[in-house]
Amino acid sequence: ENILFVASECTPFIKTGGLADVIGSLPQSLQEIGDVEVRVMLPMYDEIDGLWREQMEYVTSFDVKLGWRNQSAAIYTLKHNQIVYYFIANDYYFTRKGVYGYYDDGERFVFFSHAIMEALSHLDYTPEILHAHDWQTGIAVALAKIVNPVPNLKTVYTIHNIKYQGVMPLNTFDDFFSISREHIGGMEWQGMLNCMKAAIFHADRILTVSPTYAKEILDPYYSEGLHDLLQNRVTDLMGIINGIDTKEYNPLTDPYIPVNYRSARIKKMENKIALQEKLGLPKDGLIPMYIIISRLVEQKGIHLIERILADFLQEDAQFIVLGTGEEAFENYFRDIAESLPNKARALITFDEGLARQLYAAADFLIMPSKFEPCGLSQLIALQYKTVPIVRETGGLKDTVIPYNEITGEGNGFSFSNYNAHDLLYVLRYSLAIYNSPTDWQQLIRNVNKSQFSWKDSSLEHMELYQQLLPTPIYG
Ligand code: GLC
Repeated sequence: ENILFVASECTPFIKTGGLADVIGSLPQSLQEIGDVEVRVMLPMYDEIDGLWREQMEYVTSFDVKLGWRNQSAAIYTLKHNQIVYYFIANDYYFTRKGVYGYYDDGERFVFFSHAIMEALSHLDYTPEILHAHDWQTGIAVALAKIVNPVPNLKTVYTIHNIKYQGVMPLNTFDDFFSISREHIGGMEWQGMLNCMKAAIFHADRILTVSPTYAKEILDPYYSEGLHDLLQNRVTDLMGIINGIDTKEYNPLTDPYIPVNYRSARIKKMENKIALQEKLGLPKDGLIPMYIIISRLVEQKGIHLIERILADFLQEDAQFIVLGTGEEAFENYFRDIAESLPNKARALITFDEGLARQLYAAADFLIMPSKFEPCGLSQLIALQYKTVPIVRETGGLKDTVIPYNEITGEGNGFSFSNYNAHDLLYVLRYSLAIYNSPTDWQQLIRNVNKSQFSWKDSSLEHMELYQQLLPTPIYG
């Protein structure tokens, strides 16, 4: 059976966040376990590297009708790691710098969604299931039901982050759509055109990226206004935790890190010393090292860090942050690093190699998110035997179990309220455990056993697809 993924980003072609990692690794995993062919359709951004473009083949061109205009689209394709990728090109919408952040992002992705529908009648590939991700492809889900380009096409829609919904003035409908106005109702939310609402309303099944987040988004605190809508669809809503590509994130083979290892603490220490040397921090294999690797935005709980980090760093510990984001947060970390030259570094950049070196060197990853649909950094940290310290929300709650001194269970540390002092308390507690050899060894044993590959998640996806299909696809 054929499953078509549609999304706005995908590794290794184009990435701004965790969505790209998921789209870049779930399809392979599905193909490995099931009788399915998964293809992926993406916009052809200018940012996509020339080396990839050279490998692409031209497929076909066609017109896409948006309101009273015709826009042209061309399709290119390439095959990479057993997966066929399609890229939809349009000079006006996608020949720009970067990926998002334009005043007409809504229009750009409404175009993309229309182009996906049109493409279906120009390709010699007919999907049984359209699996769309996040707001940028929400309209494709609606159009799949309304325009009906492929008879009986089933739709699955994954919410990776409910905060971004793709909202536009209602009066853009006549300009951007070429369907009857009777369909506005299924796309309108609180007086605006809302791409995520359109998908939630029309999809056969709605997914999100962890079981806890699936519950949280029914609650106004997390729902960004969509709880009533989701309550109405609750029987078709479920959460499946993301995996990570464990071949890619493997400390035993990672080419970016100085010393490869399986679980030996001594080798992690050698990575720590190499990183200290590189960054000019005091060289000490035993000093506990805490890291943050994150977009520096409110979602990630940086406000909590701001309030307590200086206090915490009175302890004997080192701290390194890697990431970019809001200027105020970037400057805050630069200031901390400047005022504590022997303890803290701020790497305000994004660099995959450096990220791996941090995961390999550190003892703890701090991730106190305000909300976190799944979160991938804590999974990568576990893979590199680095202990995650998280707030109990979304996927963080589903993957990090707080260490319990009595039972010896748990693979990390967590706190529940979005409160800076609770974070400070748990940071200090993590130090106490680090300094208690029997507890620390037990905790690390548990960390070594934690694995979040795609295996279980892709099985759960298969079960879900199977509910929508008449023929058996796995098992
Ligand atoms: C979004 C979410 C993140 C999730 C990722 C992949 O970036 O914020 O929690 O891990 O999507 O699903």
